[in-house]
Amino acid sequence: MLNTKKITKIKEEFEKNYKNISQRVVICGDTGCASSGSFKVYDAFKEQMAARNLNFCPEITSSCHENSTYVMKSGCQGFCSQGPLVEVNGILYTKVKPEDVSEIIDKTILKGEIVDRLLYLNPKDNQRCKDKTEIPFYKKQHRILLGDCGRLNPADFGEYVASGGFQGLIKAFQNGPEWTINEMKAAYDELTAVQNKIDRGQWGGTTDGLNRITADRTAKMRIVKQKLEELRTIAASSSLFNDKLTPAQKEADANLAQKYSEYKVRVDQKYWFEIATMK
Ligand code: FES
Repeated sequence: MLNTKKITKIKEEFEKNYKNISQRVVICGDTGCASSGSFKVYDAFKEQMAARNLNFCPEITSSCHENSTYVMKSGCQGFCSQGPLVEVNGILYTKVKPEDVSEIIDKTILKGEIVDRLLYLNPKDNQRCKDKTEIPFYKKQHRILLGDCGRLNPADFGEYVASGGFQGLIKAFQNGPEWTINEMKAAYDELTAVQNKIDRGQWGGTTDGLNRITADRTAKMRIVKQKLEELRTIAASSSLFNDKLTPAQKEADANLAQKYSEYKVRVDQKYWFEIATMK
């Protein structure tokens, strides 16, 4: 069962082990890239790093040696048409095949050099792009919900916690269910007010301002969504609170739980997230 102490310990352990990482290889492991062979590329990295006796870790644990290369899979980074994507210390290689891995290790990992032929070629100016900041597809994007995609390992719970995950849950543990619900309600009301303004055409600002407010709303949605996930965890571990609650508080808690089930949070015109009924 998660509690503040355990979450803090997970965070500290991850941070301690991560200090041994000096390089990071991110191989996109989502559907698009997987269908074009990214798992084979991932296996090739692991096999060749091992064959050369190079320190590498497929996950962050206490067995990561000093100066290790972290070889991980990411979720979809959006540029599926150019997959398999492989990012080495921020340098983005496209359409990588297992046969390319040896050269990437020799040049980029061991010498810090770039393998030009694997960089994305911008068809507009025929220039190679070194990283996402130079690629037109990414240039105009400001990722919020998927901002950590490609940065965090989606399969590593420790990394999620170390990057701020479950901090809301810690607050919920510390402040109790009523406080948590009020927090959610305030976020929900704020979002609804903004959305209503936009829906009614009452937003009279500039496009930039609208983009900003939309980004702000999306960021808040992210927080609310995170809270929902955390509340589901609380619901699944309701005894977390039980030892602190008097019978009267438990009854009040049950009433509040009913309120959760009535919440519906609008993400945009298409998507709705429903808060699970707490049982
Ligand atoms: S699956 Fe790799 S970029 Fe989409």
